[in-house]
Amino acid sequence: MVTSDILRSRRERPKRVKMLARDFIEDSLYNPHYGYFPKQVVIFSPGQPFDFNSMANEPEFYTQLGERYTAFEDALDAEVPNESRQLWHTPTELFRPYYGEAIARYLVTNYKLSNYPLHDLIIYELGAGNGTLMLNILDFIRDFEPDVYARTKFKVIEISSALASLQTSQLMKTASSRGHTDHVEIINRSVFAWDTYVPAPCYFLALEVFDNFAHDSIRYDPFTEEPLQCTVLIDNSGDFWEFYTKHIDPVAARFLRVRHAACSRPFDHPLQGSRFIRQLKSRLPLAPNMTVPEYVPTRLMQFFDILREYFPLHQLLTSDFHALPDAVKGYNAPVVQTRYQRRTVPVTTPYVQQGYFDILFPTDFAVIEDVYRAITGKLTRVMAHEEFLKRWAYVEDSATKSGENPMLSWYKNSSVMIST
Ligand SMILES: C[S@@+](CC[C@H](N)C(=O)[O-])C[C@H]1O[C@@H](n2cnc3c(N)ncnc32)[C@H](O)[C@@H]1O
Repeated sequence: MVTSDILRSRRERPKRVKMLARDFIEDSLYNPHYGYFPKQVVIFSPGQPFDFNSMANEPEFYTQLGERYTAFEDALDAEVPNESRQLWHTPTELFRPYYGEAIARYLVTNYKLSNYPLHDLIIYELGAGNGTLMLNILDFIRDFEPDVYARTKFKVIEISSALASLQTSQLMKTASSRGHTDHVEIINRSVFAWDTYVPAPCYFLALEVFDNFAHDSIRYDPFTEEPLQCTVLIDNSGDFWEFYTKHIDPVAARFLRVRHAACSRPFDHPLQGSRFIRQLKSRLPLAPNMTVPEYVPTRLMQFFDILREYFPLHQLLTSDFHALPDAVKGYNAPVVQTRYQRRTVPVTTPYVQQGYFDILFPTDFAVIEDVYRAITGKLTRVMAHEEFLKRWAYVEDSATKSGENPMLSWYKNSSVMIST
């Protein structure tokens, strides 16, 4: 039995081992030698910001984005040809600087209401990608709130060494025009290895990070409703087998306990609905003896533990997908996909060759809001991506001539959660 921590020092994918599903997922995504993030990922950057006001409508934005995407991939291929390079885009990049400015407005307004002038404005960003959000937020505060800027400290916690160096070089490259270096610290480590107590009030940003946090897989006995936890076995020839046992490890057991105690609202779950019908279906010939899997966000719960333990006065701002198309079978199930020859190829299970596939989960905000509240004792609000931006962005900046506004209409499957 191994864990993702034990596997970090391995240069080759392991054989003849077993591990919990969350360790398999974490190893696939983050192993420093063969993991998906260290090896494959590039985050798309559009170059110059899009000039939305000069576009006729939303389809024109789509066309321009397609052109820039192709040019970006052509440039990468000219440097190092790679048929399986993984390319993503995020709202931070597509709508820069307006998306970052909206978040900056939210931060400064809240800071002025609660902590100014007693405390500095301390912002932590978990997983800063290309570093674009950091620069856009700092530019905005410097240009519009110089007094606050003088007291602003921006700290990035970034697991990927490649992305941490990219963030540093972005900062250096533009240092003369932006002058932010004195305000920034880039900390290259996983947030799960965090061990410094931060007594000061601070803001904690996590945008599109939760989706790649490892989950455990649980199935239930349809008659007794007893949970069973997934272990993945990798055999001699490197094939993957999943099996389920009644032994629930302490982390998954705690998640189930906290969720049971904290959740006040109904949520999607394999045991919801009529017990009678479920048991009837399970008695049919060839019916499986377990429900379909439910993927539970155990790593996310551990992130909330880190916030409670080390950042007691934080205020969280997070955004992520609440739904994802083409997911594998199950509840709260991930999308598992790769890009090959510039096409996205989804597959039907997370237990595939480690490092070649993105494994991204939707976030059930109804559940995680209650779990976060229970763990940290803080008040929260969840809203649609569009609602947050309508409140905090200058939406005119991203409007096309027809009035269509891609920054508001894209990412309909994302939500924002803030805490106080
Ligand atoms: C999808 S990218 C999002 C980047 C950026 N926030 C944006 O919206 O453009 C996820 C980021 O989180 C980082 N990350 C993932 N897990 C992490 C962890 N456990 N600790 C620190 N950073 C992490 C990744 O390396 C990457 O920078």
